[in-house]
Amino acid sequence: MSENAKQPSGPDLATGVAITDIADGAMLQGHVGEEVVLLARRGDELFAVGAACTHYHGPLAEGLIVGDTVRCPWHHACFSLRTGEAVRAPAFDPLPRWRVQHENDRVFVREKQAASAAKPAPAESERAAWPASVVIVGGGAAGFAAAEMLRREGYDRPVTMLSADDAPPCDRPNLSKDYLAGTAQESWIPLKSPKFYEKRAIDLRLNARVTAMDPRNRRVTLADGSTLEYGALLLATGADPLRLNLPGADPSIVHYLRTLGDSKAIIAAAATGKRALVIGASFIGLEVAASLRHRKLDVHVVAPEARPLERVMGPELGDVVRRLHEKQGVVFHLNETVTKLEGRTARLSSGASLAADLIVIGVGVRPATALAEAAGLATDNGITTDQYLQTSAPGIFAAGDIARWPDPHSREHIRVEHWIVAERQGQTAARNILGRRERYDAVPFFWSQHYDIVISYVGHATRWDATKAEGSLADHDGKVTFLQAGRPLAVATIFRDRDSLAAEAEMEQRVAKG
Ligand SMILES: Cc1cc2nc3c(=O)[nH]c(=O)nc-3n(C[C@H](O)[C@H](O)[C@H](O)COP(=O)(O)OP(=O)(O)OC[C@H]3O[C@@H](n4cnc5c(N)ncnc54)[C@H](O)[C@@H]3O)c2cc1C
Ligand code: FES
Repeated sequence: MSENAKQPSGPDLATGVAITDIADGAMLQGHVGEEVVLLARRGDELFAVGAACTHYHGPLAEGLIVGDTVRCPWHHACFSLRTGEAVRAPAFDPLPRWRVQHENDRVFVREKQAASAAKPAPAESERAAWPASVVIVGGGAAGFAAAEMLRREGYDRPVTMLSADDAPPCDRPNLSKDYLAGTAQESWIPLKSPKFYEKRAIDLRLNARVTAMDPRNRRVTLADGSTLEYGALLLATGADPLRLNLPGADPSIVHYLRTLGDSKAIIAAAATGKRALVIGASFIGLEVAASLRHRKLDVHVVAPEARPLERVMGPELGDVVRRLHEKQGVVFHLNETVTKLEGRTARLSSGASLAADLIVIGVGVRPATALAEAAGLATDNGITTDQYLQTSAPGIFAAGDIARWPDPHSREHIRVEHWIVAERQGQTAARNILGRRERYDAVPFFWSQHYDIVISYVGHATRWDATKAEGSLADHDGKVTFLQAGRPLAVATIFRDRDSLAAEAEMEQRVAKG
């Protein structure tokens, strides 16, 4: 390194630090040469791994050590400290590792270790039980994570991913956030490049809508009439936006948002439009409002509830979110609905009218269960699965927005629409397709971004009888716990990432103890 090159901050771990500088369960960020390294201690064991999360480069030193894993503060990715493996989404790539030497009372980080070789080859008895092929219906969060995990686990038979989308699996949450706001480039949106699929022999077929399934003969039919047989099938068809029947709507100005194409269409409309109307104060609706404000459009939000997001997050957070948007110039029309559209004018239930060049409807989604229903699988506003994400039909699994599974934390059968849950379910379903019998017990987690404020939410509470607030949500440094009969069901935080991780770890431990 040249003398003028910028050294990363923190101690030079190559020259060593005192063992007393790093307590049990603690982490220390330093550097080796120009690389930022995280030194972590668990009991007498010491680990050195890359300090930046491989998802969006979150600072792992601000995360949490749980057992022999480190959790990322931003979106809760989980890495093995021993191997660097990204054991739980949303990160997929491993962390680099370094050899650690403990001499007398000092710890030295030595040479970088070769990237973890592929996992040990599975035993022949295990391979013998593997399906002859895997077909994944869906090219979204769950489908992608499942395909990646099948290959990571050494599955070497055909994997085909059939996606109705015209674009490869993409970072869907970004479509309402930075990409829509114009602060993320299009090249960041695909989860992986075409090379990734090629290298892993994942046969990704786009514009490949499945129209029927035949569980008895283990076969699917595509829209072009072709058929494909499978050894095991993963259904990961996600959800479709709910459509509003608005008499008089001019379809050229009305948008829904699910795909990259949808986001592009909104961006194109925003380039010439001045006034946007967002129907629905949902997470997606409000993120769209924020992004369109970033593009300097006038934004009005019409929604029937008294407070945005109150049903999910309670009144206090609902008010915080509302104030945030109002401060940025969003105008709310709450306790109101749009009754009809006349050209570019929306009539509201109060009789008021609003002119708009662009309308985005974000009033919720419906799980895409039509295939499963037609094939006779058990459904209940979602595809019913057991704790291993297996559906009622042998060899067919379900993951993501369509799956309703027995959640050990809430002790209910739940279906959620969270990116990370979908990815983690895809990972678990993949391992169960390979015969692992792994219970899906990850604590649900989601995040939502409004301007520079990120709300993190762990757990699942559809109803609660008490809340406990800590810190100040209004000052964007707080935490709310949602309780039912004294039992914490969910925790929402703003800028308290460690509290969010700690809440997740506590929920995991509670379930592990039974
Ligand atoms: C704009 C936007 C922003 C979001 N932001 C967040 C966020 O901040 N945080 C969060 O936790 N969640 C967020 N979500 C929700 C999150 O994206 C979903 O929960 C997640 O994508 C669900 O993953 P999935 O794999 O179940 O479905 P999807 O990712 O929707 O993938 C479904 C796939 O199935 C395909 N498909 C459907 N039917 C068929 C068929 N018959 N044949 C073949 N293919 C089919 C589709 O084309 C698609 O490829 C957001 C969603 C959107 C739309
Ligand atoms: S940046 Fe680490 S999980 Fe997203």
